[in-house]
Amino acid sequence: MIAITRQNLVLTSSFLLGVGLIINPAQSALISSLGFALLSYSVTYVLIPRLGPSFVKIGLFGKDLSKKNNPVLPETMGAISAIVYLFTMYFFIPFMFYKYLVTITSGGGNRDEGLELTDPVLSSSNSTDIPVISASRLFPHNKLATYLSAILCLQSMFVLGVADDLFDIRWRNKFFLPAIASIPLLIVYYVDFGVTKVMVPAILQVYLGETVDLGLLYYGYMAAVAIFCTNCINIYAGVNGLEVGQSIVIALLILANDTLYLINPGHPAIESHLFSMYLLLPFLGVSFALLRYNWWPAKCFVGDTYCYFAGMVFAVVGILGHFSKTLLLFFIPQIFNFVYSVPQLFGLVVCPRHRMPRFNAKTGLLEVSRADLVAPPAKWLDFLLRILAKLRLIAIWTKPDDDKVIVQVSNMTAINLCLVNMGPLREDRLTMVLMAVQLFTGVVAIVLRHSLASVIFGKDNL
Ligand code: UD1
Ligand code: MG
Repeated sequence: MIAITRQNLVLTSSFLLGVGLIINPAQSALISSLGFALLSYSVTYVLIPRLGPSFVKIGLFGKDLSKKNNPVLPETMGAISAIVYLFTMYFFIPFMFYKYLVTITSGGGNRDEGLELTDPVLSSSNSTDIPVISASRLFPHNKLATYLSAILCLQSMFVLGVADDLFDIRWRNKFFLPAIASIPLLIVYYVDFGVTKVMVPAILQVYLGETVDLGLLYYGYMAAVAIFCTNCINIYAGVNGLEVGQSIVIALLILANDTLYLINPGHPAIESHLFSMYLLLPFLGVSFALLRYNWWPAKCFVGDTYCYFAGMVFAVVGILGHFSKTLLLFFIPQIFNFVYSVPQLFGLVVCPRHRMPRFNAKTGLLEVSRADLVAPPAKWLDFLLRILAKLRLIAIWTKPDDDKVIVQVSNMTAINLCLVNMGPLREDRLTMVLMAVQLFTGVVAIVLRHSLASVIFGKDNL
């Protein structure tokens, strides 16, 4: 017997509402996509607690380092979100191409190929003057190829993410995996779209012209976007709810940007932004369900699988939606975190295995975590570290009996920087502050994007 609880009611109604929206009488693919988002939310929400123990049994678990007694939690639970998402995207195909899938023939098993028709709507007309033919000739194969390449790319990233969670691949190797996963995407981009030109700022247009063709370099840039989007989420992590939380905020920001195009009827970029929405709505569904379990105090970890998967969803949407440069505006905290991390990532300052904040069991709060310096820093580095500490950009600790020798520095992550300036915080408050920063910088970026673009480039594409 299934008990009637508030949670079960919410799940059942989101499931039923989801089904209703999928088969909406208006046959709108966007409404169907919203329905799939609700459906994928309920399915993921139900599956995670049921499958968690099986993950632990095969060794996929991790210790929550910011809790008393470090409880063991199932790891890689983002794999469930990713699988539900991928299946959802398969089921969505007929709904995305619904208007093209109605095969109209003259009967008797004829496919009537060879007749020309430009609009599938015409083919369903009752007029006897218009030849009634198979709509297959009009089917947008390039659109389907684009969609399938997106799915293939996400599948590859999923496989590589699971491999990382299973084998804990070394950083120097796993850093480039997303570039491999993005190959199907880049090939379809080349065959189908092929635009490698970028706009030149208005002041340089007299010298360089309105656009510059980057050629092959543009493909390198797109692979770099895939590498960045995936890894930057993975290194902005270590606090309950942050990996999923930041991904949800980024997805909402991209959706808000998409909506600006959608409410502009006849805009040439509407199709690209609709495509972005089709990919993001179900992603939000599976992510919200995951967040319910990963939020403080977490009942599961999302794993590198989720970080890579989420980052790749954004890269796919940005590349195939032709707004990869705008996309980066929604990653301001991640870009900052990466640049700020460079001294540790490139070995200038010691980089411990975990740079997450330190849990103080007495207060129950998170504090700045520290990296032990193996030797006193060189003079120039000592000077630099002290200046940065004065500016509250890092914290330093000196020898107890000699304040001239720096022995520890705060780990250089945006998470620690927040604690350096705000003091110790409870884990969920810290996640909320970081998500609020993500939202704030993203909203400012959208506003600037659509107001400054016309100043810098001479026109905005809205
Ligand atoms: C990245 C970061 C690392 C950070 C880690 C946290 C870099 C170069 N690497 O490494 O500094 O500590 O992510 O995910 O910046 N964990 C918690 N609470 C959480 C999330 C994770 O305790 O809310 C711990 C668990 O023990 C979990 C482990 O972190 O098992 C997962 O770490 P993993 O994703 O393997 O670390 P990396 O991605 O390699
Ligand atoms: Mg990780």
